[in-house]
Parts: sequence; structure tokens; C-alpha cells
Amino acid sequence: GHGSSFVFVIMGASGDLAKKKIYPTLWWLFRDGLLPPKTFFIGYARSKLTVEDIKTNVIQHMKVKPGEEEQLKEFFKLNDYVAGAYDKSDGFAALDKVIKGKGNCNRLFYLALPPSVYESVTLNIKALCMATSGKWTRLIVEKPFGRDLESSNHLSSHLANLFKEEEIFRIDHYLGKEMVQNLMVLRFGNRIFSPIWNRDNISSVVISFKEPFGTQGRGGYFDSFGIIRDVMQNHLLQILTLVAMEKPPTTASEDIRNEKVKVLKSIQPPDTANIVLGQYVGNPEGQGDEKQGYLEDPTVPKGSVTPTFATAVLFVQNERWDGVPFILRCGKALNERKAEVRLQFRDVAGDIFPLGEAKRNELVIRVQPDEAVYLKMMTKTPGMTFDTHETELDLSYNSRYKGCKLPDAYERLILDVFVGSQIHFVRSDELYEAWRIFTPLLHHIEQNKPKPITYKYGSRGPKENDVLCDKFNFRYTGTYQWKKPDAN
Ligand code: BG6
Repeated sequence: GHGSSFVFVIMGASGDLAKKKIYPTLWWLFRDGLLPPKTFFIGYARSKLTVEDIKTNVIQHMKVKPGEEEQLKEFFKLNDYVAGAYDKSDGFAALDKVIKGKGNCNRLFYLALPPSVYESVTLNIKALCMATSGKWTRLIVEKPFGRDLESSNHLSSHLANLFKEEEIFRIDHYLGKEMVQNLMVLRFGNRIFSPIWNRDNISSVVISFKEPFGTQGRGGYFDSFGIIRDVMQNHLLQILTLVAMEKPPTTASEDIRNEKVKVLKSIQPPDTANIVLGQYVGNPEGQGDEKQGYLEDPTVPKGSVTPTFATAVLFVQNERWDGVPFILRCGKALNERKAEVRLQFRDVAGDIFPLGEAKRNELVIRVQPDEAVYLKMMTKTPGMTFDTHETELDLSYNSRYKGCKLPDAYERLILDVFVGSQIHFVRSDELYEAWRIFTPLLHHIEQNKPKPITYKYGSRGPKENDVLCDKFNFRYTGTYQWKKPDAN
């Protein structure tokens, strides 16, 4: 309401996430006038630092433009810093005092912390830092939410003992991306898609995530998680729920999340026989980093079998999707950066064109880069001939919405926390189901240590992936290549 003040506390203010994402995001929101007028920022970490130290630390990531110097000063004037331990009450008491000094505020706590201190920090927040007199407290947490069903349940019940579900905002930053948010509008705002969005028409759905770089010194963290926990169990599965869910009765967050949970409940753990696991090796002909294989990253333990590439096939066993493979595929150190959803339609029935000419239609939602929605379709080859030809209906954002700035996922999501909208956050039962689906596979990998298939840095990944996709109703012809339309 009017005149309310807000305090945004960055727990772990001296860490990497705070530096690279949280402070910069707060600055962009502040700069663009998107935050409520009376918003204060407080960093908390163990080291004895000043706001000036924080500034020195984060400024390189803030992309400050000429002319913004005054605003930047204003921003840092609204900042405070409190040093304190994560497991002792005096630091939190001091923090509470600084917060109270800002008046009677709503409080947001961003936990940019290693999981080892989640429990003590949340206990201390609950004991010493909760808002009073009609103001709210909200907690923003990030993965890892445990590493399997059991550890995640442990963390969930710890949090549930301290906070109400509406106070907990679990970030999956893919839910803050433009095209991921567009999925619901495309599906439920168009008559043309809904009647064909089912097993009668769709042969397979491929959800992919590709990155052209390796672990880049993050090998220590990455090795204990692997690509399935890092990307598949969260980002790709969240996209799957939005592709597969039934129409919610309203756009209220609980209505939407209820539908997402129903999808997850209809999915059984993937069959370990239908999995491709890969690990990249260096490319001797490559440039710089490309020469270095995963196992050559000094932060990766010797002989690690952690996958850096994975394909898994899931089935949503309900009336709409029974038998339709949802192929989730993700990998690091591949040939390109790309995240997309690809619905491949069935073959045309009773095709009258010479054998094999009608290629399958595909609806592609390109999440990044170069946001686009395009529909691969057949048309008559223009001109005198009566041949057929693959083409596309293309909604490419950089040509259709020229100059339109799409906010970063974190900007949207942090703003959502201020507003209290949980549409784009993961509810505890969603998290539970996500771990239920992937835990058997993760345990299988941990116990049996299957050797991942090696693939070269900068390649398309293991060939076995293509074989698996083909086995599960995804036909790749290689005859069509989407071209980024001219942005001019
Ligand atoms: C993170 C993963 O969640 O997502 C990283 O931990 C990955 O490994 C990143 O690189 C990708 O995010 P984006 O927004 O760059 O696609």
C-alpha cells in the first residue's frame, strides 16, 4: 500500500551469486523505477565489509551507463551492510536492529548462500528477524533444494516448520524467461493450438538446453550435482509442465500450480534403459577452453563419471498425452547456445505427395537466444513447379518487436516477490514430485557409475542421443534450417 517501506536483505552479500546476479538486478530495477519508492537494501555476510567494499565488488557486473552516475549514488545510499555469523544469534539481532532503523518495513530475504548454512540462517531469521505489526516477511531461495528426494524433503519440512508456503519463493529462473511465460498465452489464448495439443496430433516433444561452454572453474560444484540436477530436474521439467498441463480455471498462482503438480504426478521415473549420459572431452583442434575436457578441469575429481550431457524420456500418463515421449535433453560444451521446446506433429495421414515429401510439422518455441515462435510447415515451392517445400511461419521477436527490451529473468522474479505473485515460483509439492521423478535415475547413476559416453567439446553431443530421439518418435531429417530473420 501507500507509504509502505521495504527492506531487501541479501544473505551472502559477498558471494558470487550476490555479486553477479542479485546486486545488479536490484540496481536495474531501481534504475528503471520499478521498485516501490521506499526500498532499502541490506547486505549480510561474515566478512567485515563496508557498502563501499560491496560496491567495488559488484560494480563490474552492474553495466552502469554514462549519465547514470547520480542514480547509482542514490542506489548505494539506500544500501547498508551488516557483518555477522550464519549460525549465531547476535549477528541476526544486529541485522534486525538495522532493519528496524528503516521504520516498520516489509522484509525480503534473499538466500544467496551455500546449502550448508540454509538451516541455521532460516532458524535465525525466524527467531530474530521477522516483520511485525502487519508487515510481511518473504524468503527467496535458490537451488540446490537438496540432492535427492530424501534430502529435499528434509529441507522442505525444515522450511515448512518455520514459514508458510506463501512466504517461500523458490526460484527456478527459467520461469522468469519471456518465452517460458509465453507458453501459457500461446496455448490458452489461441483457438488454433488447443484442439491439436494432444496425443492424436503430436508425435513427440523435445525440450532442449545447450550451452557452448564447459564448467569454467565451477567444476567443484558441478561435479557433485551433474547436468540432471543442474538443468533437467528443474529448468527442463518446469518447461515440460507448462507444455503439458491442462487449462487452469484462472491465472491465479494456486490454480496454475495445481495443474502443474497434476502433470508431474502423472509422470513415472524415466526408464534407465532409455537414457543417454555424456561427458565432454577436449577438442585438440579447438580454441582456448575448447581444448580442455571435463576431467582436465582442475576442480573436477579424477575419473569422475558425472554427466555433462543427458537425454531422458518421460511420459505423461494421462488422457491427453498417453504414449507421447517428452524427450529432455541438456548439455554443456556443445556446438551452440540454445534452449527451445519443439513439438513434432505426426505424419500427414493419406499423404498424396510423392513418398516422403511431406515433412512433419513442428512448432518451435525458442526460449533463447533470439526469442521466437515458429511453425515448420510445407508449402508449394514458389514458381512454376508443383513441388513441395519446407518453410516456416515465423514470429521472431527481434524483427516483430524491434527495440523491445526483454527483462532479465531475475528482474521479473524479484519484482514478483515484492508484489507477492507466486505464479512463477516452485511450490513445495512441485519440488517433491520433481525429485520423485528423478531420484531413481540419480541413485542408479551414483550406485552403478555408468561410464558416460564421451563427446567432443563443441560438438552436437553423443550420437546415441539422435538414436534415442529417433526411437521415441522424433524424426530429424536435417533438411531444414531455421534462419534468424534480419533484424533491420
Ligand atoms: C543454471 C545452471 O541454473 O542455469 C547453470 O546452474 C546454467 O549451469 C544456467 O549455465 C543457464 O542459465 P541461462 O539463463 O544462462 O540459460
